[in-house]
This record gives sequence, structure tokens and C-alpha cells, in this order.
Amino acid sequence: MTQFVLIKTPLADAESLSTRIWELPGILGIEELPADGSLIFRPDLAHHFVRFDGRQQFDDWLRTEEFRRGDHILLKVYHTGELPDGFEVIARGTVEPEDYLAKMREQHHGRQIGPFWVGPPWEKPGQLPVIIEPGTAFGLGDHPTTQMCLELLSGHPRRVLDFGAGSGILSIAAAKLWPDCELTLVEIDRQCWPNIEHNFTLNGLPVPPIYEQVPAGAFDLVLANIYLEILKSVLTINAPHFIISGLLGAEQLAALSTGAFQVVRQLQREEWFALELRRC
Ligand SMILES: C[S@@+](CC[C@H](N)C(=O)[O-])C[C@H]1O[C@@H](n2cnc3c(N)ncnc32)[C@H](O)[C@@H]1O
Repeated sequence: MTQFVLIKTPLADAESLSTRIWELPGILGIEELPADGSLIFRPDLAHHFVRFDGRQQFDDWLRTEEFRRGDHILLKVYHTGELPDGFEVIARGTVEPEDYLAKMREQHHGRQIGPFWVGPPWEKPGQLPVIIEPGTAFGLGDHPTTQMCLELLSGHPRRVLDFGAGSGILSIAAAKLWPDCELTLVEIDRQCWPNIEHNFTLNGLPVPPIYEQVPAGAFDLVLANIYLEILKSVLTINAPHFIISGLLGAEQLAALSTGAFQVVRQLQREEWFALELRRC
């Protein structure tokens, strides 16, 4: 069984909270649910709901003024193990893992991102296909931070490091664009590794080496879609060229010290920023 919690958050904080939660160990997925009453109450899970005695109370709560104004949202976080304290958890429960994965599969459709067609194995692929099986790893191509990295891929690097590989989406795209490149993947969450291996195989590519930490050596290009604190250390990796994403808002953009780099390109989507940097 897979566990889930429902977390209530102001709409304005939902994006950054999701990002924080994604970085915790054992997170399988996050669904955003409009707090407008469309959330389905499952009587079989009623005993898990910590705040409500039954459906009526729950529905009443969803229809309160704060939710009708639409300034709050619910995050349904699927996870294994324990979540740390500090979140406003309003309910918790369990689902069959198949339910969760079936939902992910329903929502995952092929799309054009930059020069790539990114989609699931059961759809007819387009040009430069990057086939991704929805699993428990981040990186289906639906997030703006991933999309901007894919759009920024350029040049002819030989040694490419994909830091925080998730599903492997960025390195699979790199292998499609530069068939002779040499890939190294770093992913701290070992639960992502089988998904990475499966996705490389689906794309007819050999599975590259995957590490928990950056191995010794130099690289021509580093790809990293991750949060600010980690990006700061990513920029110390021995490489002349970086494509980075995951900076949320102008404050985080300013907080990343890029003085040693030329900013070749900067993209913004919603509140997210991505950069192409070359070491001066
Ligand atoms: C936002 S996801 C990016 C996934 C994919 N590269 C993409 O662009 O869609 C960030 C990934 O970095 C991994 N990660 C977090 N901290 C890390 C660290 N210190 N070292 C390596 N990987 C890390 C997470 O497990 C997660 O899979």
C-alpha cells in the first residue's frame, strides 16, 4: 500500500512547498487538488481523516469561505515512510499503488518540448522522441523547470553530467541530440534508479553509469534541475558549461552567485528561472 497525506497550503506557497516536499526521501508523487469541493471523499478511507467525522463535515469544510475564494489548495502527497513534522496535514490514508500509477499514466501525454517529443511508451512518438514511463521519479516533462532545460540544450558536448537525474529525462534527451556523448548520471534517491534504467532501455539507449555523488573527473556540460542550495554547489563542478533550472522567483535568481560565469541565456516560465552559463 502507498500512503498519502493531504496538506493544506495558501495557493501562493504551493509551488515552493511542492518543491521542498519533492526533495524529501520517499516521495512518490504530488497531486494538486483545487480546494473547491471537487475532491472526492472516500468513505472507505473515512477513518483516516483526522479532522472530520464523516462526509458532511468534510464537504462543509471544503465549501468554507477560505476555499471558495480559491486562495488555498490541497496537495495530495504520495509517500513511503514518514514525513517530517511542519506541514498542515489535514488527512492521511493509503491507496493501492496501482491506483496512483494508473492516475499518473492517465495524465501523461506526449508533447513537443523544444526539438523533442516527450511522451509515454504507449503513444506514437514524434521527432527526436524522449520516451518516459511514468514511475516514481520526477521528470515526466510536465514541469516548467524540466521543459526549460530541454529547450536550452545546445552545443556539442562530449562528457555530459546529469545532476539530479530523476527519471533520466534530460540525459536521454542529450543522448538523442548528441549520440556520441558520454553520459554520467547522479541521483541521490536510489528509488529513481530502476526508472532511469527502464527509460534508457525504452529509448533503445545503453544505460549509463549512475552515482549517488559526483564521481571524480571533468565534464563538458552539467545539467541540473534542482533547488538553489544544491545549485550553488553544482556550480563548483569541474566544467565550463552549465544548464541549470529550479530557481523560484527573482530572489533566488539573485541569490545564485554567477559572477564567474557569462549568462548565455536566461528563460523564465511562470515563476521559475533557468540559465545557460559559461565559465569565464
Ligand atoms: C527536480 S528533480 C529533476 C529531475 C529531472 N532532472 C528533471 O529535470 O525533470 C531533482 C532530482 O534531484 C535529486 N536530488 C536531490 N538532491 C540531490 C543531491 N544532493 N544529489 C543528487 N541528486 C539529488 C532528487 O532526488 C530529484 O530526483
